[in-house]
Amino acid sequence: RSAGGADFYELAEQAADVEALPGLRTQIWGYGGQFPGPTIVARSGRKTVVKLVNQLGVPTVLHLHGGHTPPESDGFPTDLVAPGAAREYVFPLEQRAATLWYHDHRMDYTGPQVWRGLAGMFLVRDAEEEALPLPAGERDLPLLICDRSFAADGNLLYPALGDRPGVQEGYMGGVLGDVILVNGAPWPELRVARARYRLRLCNGSNARAYELATGGPMIQIGSDGGLLSAPRTVRQFRLAPGERADVIVDFSAYKLGQHVELRNLAGEGPQARVMRFAVDRDESDDSAVPQRLSTVEALDPGKATVTRDFEFSSGSMHGGTGWLINGRPFDPKRMEARPKLGDVEIWRLTSDVAHPVHLHLDHFQVLSVNGERPAGPPEWKDTVELRDAQTVEIVTRFTGYRGRYVLHCHNLEHEDMAMMASFEVV
Ligand code: C2O
Ligand code: CU
Ligand code: CU
Repeated sequence: RSAGGADFYELAEQAADVEALPGLRTQIWGYGGQFPGPTIVARSGRKTVVKLVNQLGVPTVLHLHGGHTPPESDGFPTDLVAPGAAREYVFPLEQRAATLWYHDHRMDYTGPQVWRGLAGMFLVRDAEEEALPLPAGERDLPLLICDRSFAADGNLLYPALGDRPGVQEGYMGGVLGDVILVNGAPWPELRVARARYRLRLCNGSNARAYELATGGPMIQIGSDGGLLSAPRTVRQFRLAPGERADVIVDFSAYKLGQHVELRNLAGEGPQARVMRFAVDRDESDDSAVPQRLSTVEALDPGKATVTRDFEFSSGSMHGGTGWLINGRPFDPKRMEARPKLGDVEIWRLTSDVAHPVHLHLDHFQVLSVNGERPAGPPEWKDTVELRDAQTVEIVTRFTGYRGRYVLHCHNLEHEDMAMMASFEVV
């Protein structure tokens, strides 16, 4: 529904039965009873209002990942929507076109609640992007990748939570599934024409990182924060939990009847497969990938007012072992930083083992990885994977809204095991 310059959506969180595996019923929790939830297509600068109606038996929180969102609508992990209650989230979307996604963000329970299905994609479009001759319509595909495990009866398997909320004994690395789902279907096949397609890949898995490849060249045009300044040809790319990559695959390079496998080079056996494309028809294609896509301003680290340190490591919490930032478990009331609105800051992130680190509110640029500048022009990210024992410096500017937000590990079990910090933009 549209009215008064805004678009309105209602998302009812419901338990529903779906047929994810042939002939079996899987009970999910889904937005609109679907898994994934409906893909919302919104316009940059046009307000989108999402009314969340909680028809589940547990509290929930909605977060728009990658959204430049006022604090009261950002899904702070303790801003709960109680069972039976509803809440309107307002997304002004004062931001460039990008592939975003939305998901549950309840403190201590994000892992199990997203696992049960509370995730969906959210595309922001703008005039700059629409002026480009990129593949569009049914050749512009949002693809949400998540791994899940199923019991013999078809139901989802998630290790039971212990008596200390958030602590997942025996799952320090996070929860992995053995079935790879794309848009809720295991290892699907999609029939495609001999034409260019735009694949907006989003890793919605709790803890699995992918190394994606088709065996041929792909052209990456965007990442978390929207279009790159120029396309780059990639043979494979890594996608950690929470990250997105926007790639063009030209199926006219293949023959009719050929199958193109999207594979996960970081997995073995069935986890090495993601989906496949069956090239089954000829169709005209007037799309193109221009050599200039967008203008990406380079944030100047020389303008930074402060460099802050965030150390991601394990440690003890609630009498068990958890994942901590700067040695402390998440406390929604304690502000780990108070950046000033409008300021540029450098945040230096260090890891013990791999952690995909995600910042709310503003996108950032990676300045260095273990002291080295990343290759290529700057790009906007909201999630960056720290590999084992790395130091990654990011630079960001705090814009738009004052209030409290979070920085956290997007391995959802790590997040639930307290690897999250609040900050307040003042
Ligand atoms: Cu995708 Cu704070 O989350
Ligand atoms: Cu987010
Ligand atoms: Cu982590």
